[in-house]
Amino acid sequence: MTPEAVNVIVATLRRAGCVFAEDEAALLIRAAQDAADLDAMVTRRVTGFPLEQVIGYAEFHGLRILLEPGVFVPRHRTEFLVQQAIELTGPGDTVVDLCCGAGAIGAALLVAIEGITLSAADVDPTAVRCARRNLATSAAHVYEGDLFDALPASLMGAVDVLVANAPYVPTDGIPLLPPEARDYEPHVALDGGGDGLDVHRRIAEAAPRWLSPGGHLLIETTEPQAERMVDIFSAAGLVPRIVSSDEWSASVVIGRLAGQG
Ligand SMILES: C[S@@+](CC[C@H](N)C(=O)[O-])C[C@H]1O[C@@H](n2cnc3c(N)ncnc32)[C@H](O)[C@@H]1O
Repeated sequence: MTPEAVNVIVATLRRAGCVFAEDEAALLIRAAQDAADLDAMVTRRVTGFPLEQVIGYAEFHGLRILLEPGVFVPRHRTEFLVQQAIELTGPGDTVVDLCCGAGAIGAALLVAIEGITLSAADVDPTAVRCARRNLATSAAHVYEGDLFDALPASLMGAVDVLVANAPYVPTDGIPLLPPEARDYEPHVALDGGGDGLDVHRRIAEAAPRWLSPGGHLLIETTEPQAERMVDIFSAAGLVPRIVSSDEWSASVVIGRLAGQG
């Protein structure tokens, strides 16, 4: 491709408001199969589709996570949740990633910790399809359904680490999200109900029945929501603590099954 043609793409992206137009142009050019494909991709991007949905993948924890249009794009801040989970997971552990989306968290844990068995689940068929591509190993099983209903009963009382990046945006915060999220990611991936904690509440309430003795539940949250999450975890019988990172702009509430381990 000539430098002039590249410049046209950069200018088109910049006019559409892409801040990192040069970087995005390079990624689009690399991902496109031919000139027509590149045209279509640039058009999708300037229409507002997230870059990762257009090029078909996101970088996450050093991995390439395959994505389809309409699936939640894994955020880098969630790598902090992965780091916390790695600290609590041992070789051979049984791990569950609830609300797995494209499977980014589970994929990172499978690479980081030897011999784990991973079960991942999501209610959204597009997410499940992506997760099955990203977790295509005999150590992982991907299920479709509502939270724990998706999981086999054999996991009850057997989960050493239960990790979730579930929706946590309060419903009236959805219209305030950037258009890339608001218009191109499914609301089921974002909307956490009135206070943003509806799904978290359901996960925490059921978690003690699924955790093994001494097992841990880890949920990504925001700093303003974290204290309420602590109350929710305590009410469910989990011993909670909050870990936060300025570097990642991220908070995680971790609960250990009370009285065990
Ligand atoms: C914020 S996205 C996170 C996806 C993934 N964990 C990640 O970090 O990339 C939340 C995910 O929760 C899923 N979800 C929402 N409600 C659910 C439910 N009741 N049962 C299972 N999955 C659900 C959505 O489909 C979406 O994929």
